[in-house]
Amino acid sequence: MRPPDSPPLRMAVIGAGFMGRQHIDIIDASPRATLVAVVDPFAAASDFGCPMFPDTASMLSAVRPDAVVVATPNASHVDVAEECIAAGVAVLLEKPVATSYASSLGLVEAVAQHGARLLVGHHRRHHPAVAVARAAIADGAIGELVAVNGMWSARKDDAYFTDIPWHREPGAGVGLINLIHDVDLLRHLCGEPTEVQAMASSHARDLAVEDTISVGLRFAGGAVGSFLASDAGASPWGWDQGTEDADAFPYIPDVGAYRFVGTGGALSLPNLAMFTYDRGVSPNWHSPLSRTYLAAGRRGSFPAQLDHFIDVAAGNAEPLVSAEDAALTLALIEAIALSAQTRETVALEHFRTRSAAPSHS
Ligand SMILES: NC(=O)c1ccc[n+]([C@@H]2O[C@H](COP(=O)([O-])OP(=O)(O)OC[C@H]3O[C@@H](n4cnc5c(N)ncnc54)[C@H](O)[C@@H]3O)[C@@H](O)[C@H]2O)c1
Repeated sequence: MRPPDSPPLRMAVIGAGFMGRQHIDIIDASPRATLVAVVDPFAAASDFGCPMFPDTASMLSAVRPDAVVVATPNASHVDVAEECIAAGVAVLLEKPVATSYASSLGLVEAVAQHGARLLVGHHRRHHPAVAVARAAIADGAIGELVAVNGMWSARKDDAYFTDIPWHREPGAGVGLINLIHDVDLLRHLCGEPTEVQAMASSHARDLAVEDTISVGLRFAGGAVGSFLASDAGASPWGWDQGTEDADAFPYIPDVGAYRFVGTGGALSLPNLAMFTYDRGVSPNWHSPLSRTYLAAGRRGSFPAQLDHFIDVAAGNAEPLVSAEDAALTLALIEAIALSAQTRETVALEHFRTRSAAPSHS
């Protein structure tokens, strides 16, 4: 941990759009960080109570922050992050780590070469309920994991696509913008997938990018899973509806967006409803399942992520989501896209070597 009496981490936010402004609010609320600059070529009129810069280079030389948050459009992530790494600045990089697995590997190299401190913003991993679910599954609280099923479906407003062009262009889409969080959590909770089968549709919005994806997954441990993601379908089922992580999304209590089923019971997340057999009954479908709720802290993912990042920046913690780890999540999204395009099963093994392209069988 960074000692409590350390001066606040001097942070800049690069990209002051929807997500960058959330990061600014979270930094402003933290006693352990202070906002020293904002970079955005198109937000010059905004007042964040600190100097504004039109580009990263001028900010880095004028302010020399300890750390930055990169919340620019996906296509610029690698370039902006590499620029900051080369300047010796710690980086909290929004997801996706890059827009292609191949380009993410360049960033992985740059991190290693500079000994950089970099955390990728798969914020859900920092939520207290995720740590509780992960421990429960790993400790066998539901027996051996058999399968997982989940959904993230929400009706985004039309302005999200009409007002912000990159949201409707290749490099965005519900896969790279939303499903990536879910498959990252599935990797974190269920282990590495070995193969995927996916279907994608642009039917509901008629844009160049997909609005809905359905995917089947097989995990190395033997479990199988399925996940549905849509930015066109209204529903209560999704991480954003089921947590209080962002004020922008009204909270719906007791949502099970992910359902893990094991040989001895079941668990849903983020509500942490646990279904198990009572002691002494036969653990099969003729016996009643009792529902209890596992306890977790109520802290939001984003403040917890910032606290962790401050420790990473100080060299006192290893990133919970490194560039290399996030690259594997991106590989999974690419495999899903390839499967949807080819209508074939895609094996993940080739994504885990640095040289080969994805294979489909
Ligand atoms: N973790 C999450 O839950 C979450 C949620 C939403 C978005 N995101 C990610 O955050 C990033 C930003 O998304 P958004 O929805 O805020 O987009 P946005 O379009 O609202 O904001 C992007 C901002 O970056 C600015 N910008 C563009 N190029 C820049 C550059 N080179 N340097 C500095 N600023 C630049 C734009 O002017 C804009 O203000 C994306 O990578 C997105 O995937 C993450």
